[in-house]
Amino acid sequence: MDLLVVGSGFFGLTIAERAAHAGRRVTVIDRRSHLGGNAYSEPDPETGIEVHRYGAHLFHTSNPQVWEYVNRFTAFTDYVHRVYTTHRGVVYPLPISLGTINQFFSAAHSPGEAAALIAEQAAEFDPKQARNLEERGIGLIGRPLYEAFIRDYTAKQWQTDPRELPAEVISRLPVRYSYDNRYFTDTWEGLPVDGYTAWLERMADHPNIDVRLKADFFDDAQPLNKAAVAGRVPVVYTGPVDRYFDYSEGALGWRTLDFEAEVVEVADFQGTAVMNYADLAVPYTRIHEFKHFHPERADRYPTDRTVIMREYSRFADTGPATDDEPYYPVNTPVDRERLLAYRKLAAAEPNVYFGGRLGTYQYLDMHMAIASALSMWSTRLAA
Ligand code: FDA
Repeated sequence: MDLLVVGSGFFGLTIAERAAHAGRRVTVIDRRSHLGGNAYSEPDPETGIEVHRYGAHLFHTSNPQVWEYVNRFTAFTDYVHRVYTTHRGVVYPLPISLGTINQFFSAAHSPGEAAALIAEQAAEFDPKQARNLEERGIGLIGRPLYEAFIRDYTAKQWQTDPRELPAEVISRLPVRYSYDNRYFTDTWEGLPVDGYTAWLERMADHPNIDVRLKADFFDDAQPLNKAAVAGRVPVVYTGPVDRYFDYSEGALGWRTLDFEAEVVEVADFQGTAVMNYADLAVPYTRIHEFKHFHPERADRYPTDRTVIMREYSRFADTGPATDDEPYYPVNTPVDRERLLAYRKLAAAEPNVYFGGRLGTYQYLDMHMAIASALSMWSTRLAA
């Protein structure tokens, strides 16, 4: 073995694929029972509908290198992502656009009129002087839209009153003064034609790559554990950086999600892939309906049943004894201080390369994880 990759998400698999292609013998270990990290998907056993087990994953990028690279492993459908939100029993398009504004104010404003209205309503606070998230939100989009679409949704995401959240949690709240409600604005978007897992498996399908599942890097009973490989072989580590150093600088904070999947006996539950719930009266933040990600599979998917998944957000328990999945970095000032300390430790760790969302404690979209792995490969590992 020339390289050990810890973690089979997009970061780890991109490194493994590049290294194998360059003639290195690579072993990839993952503590889960499947490869692919959080992008993993599988057919629901009852209906055959592809379900994204760790939350909905939509691929999008404006990076030509990444787009060329990912197309080596999968073709993409022409799916275009759109999101709606329910507020007080009415459905609105997101992100906030001219359609949302005119529907909300029962008006027919032109783009200029709508922009003037929002500017007037936003004048209540200067977003740069905001003392908390609420003041910043109002300073960006005005009180009526903030209270309808941001306040309660944010409170549910953070289990915290937005008046007690730091203003930095939001830097901008995009408002589009057009009826364009495409969720992403990237050059390319789509979903892998035969699913995420087929794509991820193709990345690992090389004679130089050996994948071992249910193998935890910190389990001494597993032969490729941290102590056993130290100094013997280069390691690309994509697990949590605080875990690697036994939480010596303290645990980093994460938000996690709880998912509640259900097979519903109707052809179509909500008419769209993702419906947000903006109000506190509804405890979940959104419902995914997976059928709608693949309209081109209509002839293969059942017409009398559908799979929905309710998503709930909360703070993760962190530290050694937790089973909570870390999803979004909380990034408090204390977290940032700890991260700096971990970065110093990581830089001094011989022959270990920290990457991916857990290894660097940052939210990365899939295309960003892949771009970052391609860059690590070419600048630090290829030579
Ligand atoms: P990832 O978490 O995928 O992989 C890390 C792997 O390391 C895991 O498989 C884990 O089991 C393994 N591991 C950890 N510790 C280990 C240990 N001790 N021993 C062995 N293995 C270990 N992006 C996007 O582009 N579009 C989208 O729509 C979404 N949607 C989305 C929804 C939600 C809810 C989240 C949280 C994230 C997204 N993403 C996304 C982001 C996407 O999930 C992310 O880009 C990739 O997971 C990043 O891949 P990584 O390889 O960095 O981590």
